[in-house]
Amino acid sequence: MARKKKRKLSIKKISIVIFVIITISIITVNFDSIRNVYLSKISGYNKESISVFIENDIYKDIKNHEYSKTLETIINTEYYNKNYLDEYLDIVFVENENFLQNTSLLLDKGYSSNDINNIYDKLTENSINVLINNDYFKDITNIISINYFKEDKLERYINYYNEEDDLETILTYVNIGLDNGYYTNVIEIEDQNNLLVLVNKYNKLQNDFVPKDLETISSKYGNGSLRKEARIAFEEMCAAAKDDGITIYGGSGYRSYSHQLRLYNNYVAIDGKIEADTYSARAGHSEHQTGLAMDILNGRWSFIDDNDKEYTWLVNNSYKYGFILRYLEGKEEITGYMYEPWHYRFVGVDVAKEIIQLGITYDEYVAKK
Ligand code: DAL
Ligand code: ZN
Repeated sequence: MARKKKRKLSIKKISIVIFVIITISIITVNFDSIRNVYLSKISGYNKESISVFIENDIYKDIKNHEYSKTLETIINTEYYNKNYLDEYLDIVFVENENFLQNTSLLLDKGYSSNDINNIYDKLTENSINVLINNDYFKDITNIISINYFKEDKLERYINYYNEEDDLETILTYVNIGLDNGYYTNVIEIEDQNNLLVLVNKYNKLQNDFVPKDLETISSKYGNGSLRKEARIAFEEMCAAAKDDGITIYGGSGYRSYSHQLRLYNNYVAIDGKIEADTYSARAGHSEHQTGLAMDILNGRWSFIDDNDKEYTWLVNNSYKYGFILRYLEGKEEITGYMYEPWHYRFVGVDVAKEIIQLGITYDEYVAKK
C-alpha cells in the first residue's frame, strides 16, 4: 500500500517537471516571436530580418537608424558583408535586378555610400559597369555634379584624369576631344547651318556643304562672302572702325571644300604635312567653309598683325558686332592651330560677349555647354 503511494508521488513529480519544462519552452519561443513582432513594428523591418539582425548581433547597431530597404534586401543574400553595415544603412534602395551585385562591387572598389547614391541617381547601368571595370575613381561625385559632364565620356574622363589639371579642365579637354589626337575620332557635324556650329580638328563639315544665305561683302570693305547675318555685322564693324579712324578689310571669307583642299595641299607641298597642319585646316575642317569666318586685313591690305592699331581696335570692339578672335595666343594646343591675329569668327553678340568675358577659346566655350 505504502509502495503504491510512493510510485504515484514520483509520477506526479515527473509530470510536474515535464509540464514546467514545456511551459518554459513555450513561453521562451513565444517571447522571441512576440519580441520580433514588436521590433518589426517599431523598426519597419520584417520579422525574418529582425531574427537575422539578432542572430548576427547587429540589431543594436541599426535600431537608432532609419529603416533601410537596402539592408533588408541584402542581409539574407550572398552579397551581404558585415563590414558595410553603415553603408547599407545609407544607400538608397534602387529597384533594379543588378542593384545588390552592383552595390557590393562598388563598395568593394572603395566607393562611399554617398558616391553610390550619386552614381545611382545620375548614371546608367553602362556607366556603372565602366566604374566597376576601372580602378576606383575618387572624384566621381564631384565630376558628375559638373553641368557639362557628358556621361558617354565617363571612361575617357577616367583615362585622361591626372593630378595636375582640375576637374573642369579635364572635362573641358575631353569634351573637346583633346584626349585623342587631332583628326582622330572625327564627328560629322549634323546642324551645319547653325550659326554656333563648331568646326575644328574633331568636327567636320560634309564635303558638299555650302552654307545657306551666303552674300558677298560690299566691295568698299574688301573681298569675300559671309552668311547674311555675319555679312551685315561685318560691314557694321568696318563702318564703326572707320568712324574711329581705323580701316579694316575682308581678306578671305567663305571657302568651299575644294578651295580649302587646294590651299591645304599647296601648303603641304611647301611646308610638309606636320607644319601645314599647324596653320591650315584640312578640307572639311575649316571654319571658312561655314561662311562665318573672315581673315581680316589692315588698312595696308595685309593680314592683321598684333602690332597693328587695327588689331587693338578689333580686340577691343569686335565682340560688339558678334566677332571673336578664334585662334588665340597661348591656346594653340586647344585650338590645334598657331596664333592667327587675323582670323575672326562670327558667333553673334551675346555669345561673343560671354566668350570675351570668360577669356576662353570657342572650342572650350562649346565644351562647357
Ligand atoms: N587657317 C585656318 C585654321 C583655316 O585654314 O581654316
Ligand atoms: Zn582664317
